[in-house]
Amino acid sequence: MLSLMTASIVAASPGHRESLLPLEQEFFPEAGADGGFVFDGPAVDPLLAQRKASAPVASVDSQVAGFAFAQPWAPRNFPRDLYTDFILSYVAVAREQQNQGIGSQLVRWVEADVRGRGSNLILAHVPAHLETFYSGLGWTVLPERTGLGWTQNGADVPIKADSPDDDPRWSRLAYIALRPEKVETFTFVVNTTKPVLDAARRLAELARNDSELRASLPAIVTAQIGVFGAPVRGAFGQIV
Ligand SMILES: CC(C)(COP(=O)(O)OP(=O)(O)OC[C@H]1O[C@@H](n2cnc3c(N)ncnc32)[C@H](O)[C@@H]1OP(=O)(O)O)[C@@H](O)C(=O)NCCC(=O)NCCS
Repeated sequence: MLSLMTASIVAASPGHRESLLPLEQEFFPEAGADGGFVFDGPAVDPLLAQRKASAPVASVDSQVAGFAFAQPWAPRNFPRDLYTDFILSYVAVAREQQNQGIGSQLVRWVEADVRGRGSNLILAHVPAHLETFYSGLGWTVLPERTGLGWTQNGADVPIKADSPDDDPRWSRLAYIALRPEKVETFTFVVNTTKPVLDAARRLAELARNDSELRASLPAIVTAQIGVFGAPVRGAFGQIV
């Protein structure tokens, strides 16, 4: 039977870096190869001190038992002021403290924190075996090779989109819409290495036969799908 532990959770400060680094290295060793561990130096300090990242630390009996790390996210080349969604890069609980609800507490903390900052959606690249962990928290876990695109209701913001990694360890996209009335999500099959391109094509396809959807799209999205999503015509003018 699962026994639930109430861990105390606080926002990480630069002072937590030293105790978080071993957890990061244990659970996300590939991060080191990808350009360095987040907690292995002072570069992360301003993110923590100014609360740009959403980074809860869970403690049990004054010992660090787990942490999560999320930061503002948008597709490459997106205007910085439109980084209103978050990517949850890490959630980890020390092995001896797992299965007591602490991982769930950490994700809930991030959700409440970023919702409070006006964020509409959190995204994560997750392993297939954690589908039940995320779906139990009300997140949607997409099938393999499936990307997520979304537009923002009532705001002239370009399409945001992301695809899962090729790396089988992080082969699924998971997300939660914190304000479902503000975002219109759709999925697409990954075709290229450019998620926004795949998403624009898919949205163009959906909008082609749906006048209500077409009318609801922000002007900038209509322009985007006009460029990326024009139907491909064959030698006889047919849509291929
Ligand atoms: C994933 C992780 C953070 C979960 O933390 P936790 O404190 O053990 O999770 P919880 O106790 O809140 O579990 C909640 C539910 O998810 C399920 N779950 C948790 N870990 C799981 C796992 N490794 N595999 C399958 N299901 C899991 C639990 O069974 C539980 O379901 P229940 O309430 O129906 O019993 C923890 O296992 C971990 O640190 N894993 C290694 C690092 C990692 O893979 N992080 C995820 C990166 S995306």
